[in-house]
Amino acid sequence: MVRDQTYYATNSMFLIQEFSVDLTFYLHNSKHYRSGNPTRSCLERAVAALDGAQYCLALASGLAATLTITHLFKAGDGILCMNDVYGGTNRYFRKIAAEVGFDVSFADLTKLELLKAALKPNTKMVWIETPTNPTMKVVDIKGCADIVHEHNKDIIVVVDNTFMSAYFQRPLALGADICMHSATKYMNGHSDVVMGLISLNRDDIYERLKFLQNALGAVPSPFDCYMCNRGLKTLHVRMKQHFKNAMAVAQFLEADPRVDKVIFPGLPSHPQHELTKRQCTGCPGMITFYIKGKLEHASTFLSSLKLFALAESLGGYESLAEHPAIMTHASVSENERKELGISDTLIRLSVGLEDEEDIIADLDQALAAAHPKR
Ligand SMILES: Cc1ncc(COP(=O)(O)O)c(C=O)c1O
Repeated sequence: MVRDQTYYATNSMFLIQEFSVDLTFYLHNSKHYRSGNPTRSCLERAVAALDGAQYCLALASGLAATLTITHLFKAGDGILCMNDVYGGTNRYFRKIAAEVGFDVSFADLTKLELLKAALKPNTKMVWIETPTNPTMKVVDIKGCADIVHEHNKDIIVVVDNTFMSAYFQRPLALGADICMHSATKYMNGHSDVVMGLISLNRDDIYERLKFLQNALGAVPSPFDCYMCNRGLKTLHVRMKQHFKNAMAVAQFLEADPRVDKVIFPGLPSHPQHELTKRQCTGCPGMITFYIKGKLEHASTFLSSLKLFALAESLGGYESLAEHPAIMTHASVSENERKELGISDTLIRLSVGLEDEEDIIADLDQALAAAHPKR
């Protein structure tokens, strides 16, 4: 029987049994455990189907995926990265990859003319994150991929698709060579797994990455693969609810006088709202806003939240809030934070799946605590 990827995506649990593999053999044979096991294969096939890819590889974390991809290259090779990315990605490229000899540079890839100017003869990889973390800038994936591949078809364009998930954005269809996810976030969605995923279509890169997956050894456990596989089953339902709740929250915040500015790509006020509509089919629960006032107002707001937990993660069923300047992006230099707009009053929300009214009521009472006189 010929089985396409959709079959694997929808029947992965059944396949775990159907493979009828002696799991004990795998668990007692470290080579097979690290280089492959049936539960991981199920997950990888399911994610490949969701990403519209031929191949997928699961890694131990989002950062392990970033590290494994970077090992495709060698010291002296150029890496061009979007200037506003997850703080850990910035830290890895600046403080580790650059230290071991990669030629790392950053540019605002929302401006295609800056991308053109930043490509060098040694550029081997362009790293895009969209929407960016935490300032929610949207990068034109197709525009970037076209420019990069016209310049040199061998440059690998990677898109960190963590925020959008496979449900709202499919970077490979837009010309990217690799789609990467921190599955710790929306793809698993239950805040109980740390994992990275790499999807792609190119045979040559896949063979090398598969070698690196085993040789570097940053692999997830079969149990985490099982959990993530289960999380994927509700991806479409969760993402729709995240979008609905986030839209309601963004509209509430935008109309609130205690808030200076809201950045949410689903709002018509977002500078790249039209691009978002073109390249994505919806928006996740990620909202960034500037509260009126100073650090003390942001701090009172965050400590007054009851339903939202103060936490760095995102993309789970539960609503989370964080202060990027002090938390997720503390490792980004003060100057760089200033340039990117990561100020003391910037707050990032990961809007969860709770009732919309409860979420808004919590934000309202925390804003009232921060601004009692308004
Ligand atoms: C956009 C993005 N990419 C990558 C990562 C790293 O993922 P992980 O925590 O799974 O290593 C994160 C983590 O927050 C993230 O937000």
